[in-house]
Amino acid sequence: MSESNAKAPTGLFGRLLALPNDSVAKMLLVTIVLSLVCSVLVSSAAVLLKPMQERNVELARKARILEVAGLMEPGRSVEALFEGVETRLVELETGEFSDALDPQAFDQQVAARDPELGVAIPPWEDIAGISRRARYAPVYLVRDDAGALDMVILPVHGYGLWSTMYGFLALSGDGRTVRGLTFYQHAETPGLGGEIENPRWLARWEGRRVFGPEGEVRLQVVHGTVDPGSEWAEWSVDGLSGATLTADGVSNMVQYWLGEQGFGPFLTRLREEGI
Ligand SMILES: Cc1cc2nc3c(=O)[nH]c(=O)nc-3n(C[C@H](O)[C@H](O)[C@H](O)COP(=O)(O)O)c2cc1C
Repeated sequence: MSESNAKAPTGLFGRLLALPNDSVAKMLLVTIVLSLVCSVLVSSAAVLLKPMQERNVELARKARILEVAGLMEPGRSVEALFEGVETRLVELETGEFSDALDPQAFDQQVAARDPELGVAIPPWEDIAGISRRARYAPVYLVRDDAGALDMVILPVHGYGLWSTMYGFLALSGDGRTVRGLTFYQHAETPGLGGEIENPRWLARWEGRRVFGPEGEVRLQVVHGTVDPGSEWAEWSVDGLSGATLTADGVSNMVQYWLGEQGFGPFLTRLREEGI
């Protein structure tokens, strides 16, 4: 056997590797192998990092709940602070607490799409523009040192101009007064509808009243500036200049979630019986 024969590459892979670097077949082989290696690396990273991403999303939600409740403290972890917040699941139709599902694991948006756990909202009642809602919703309760309910934080969402806006509305323990509003997800235009995140605008919600004398939801965003002398001033929040459609969406969103289709029955129970 000659020396050149002994070193001749064997197998398809060996023969391809032995080709000159500028041959089409070798370039194709290198490209395919490289793409395979990269896709395995990217998908492994996505799978391995998913639990961490989900934990971060959950932490961010908890941080917003603490923020809207004014419970954030520098130097203390979100998890530690959140231990002071009680999470309960409410059956919206009855307004009663429910232990049917785990409130920590409950995802309102997933449940809304589930035929068992979600309901379609008839168009004439769908003022928030969300089409479906879950039968249950989590509520976050904050008690004072004596154990009395100090604050209740409700998850709210509704359609603005371009997107569904997701946020939390904090109410006093009797459910009658706004303690704060925050948004954690939306796709309204920065500088226009995106002003719903502006802390100066959000601060205007604090202290607004929710219900009128007959128990009807009066909380609303007005077009323009609230006239302090107006009969409805206590229930009204200034509109957003140049973003009337988003602001109308926020108004409809609070009206829906505070009304009979949303947390209305729960809030009635809160006002009449306390919890
Ligand atoms: C590129 C672009 C983005 C806009 N984004 C928003 C928005 O996010 N929210 C909104 O209410 N209006 C937005 N508008 C304005 C609306 O089309 C509409 O003019 C406005 O809501 C009317 O509000 P005003 O009566 O306060 O001017 C946008 C307009 C343009 C051209």
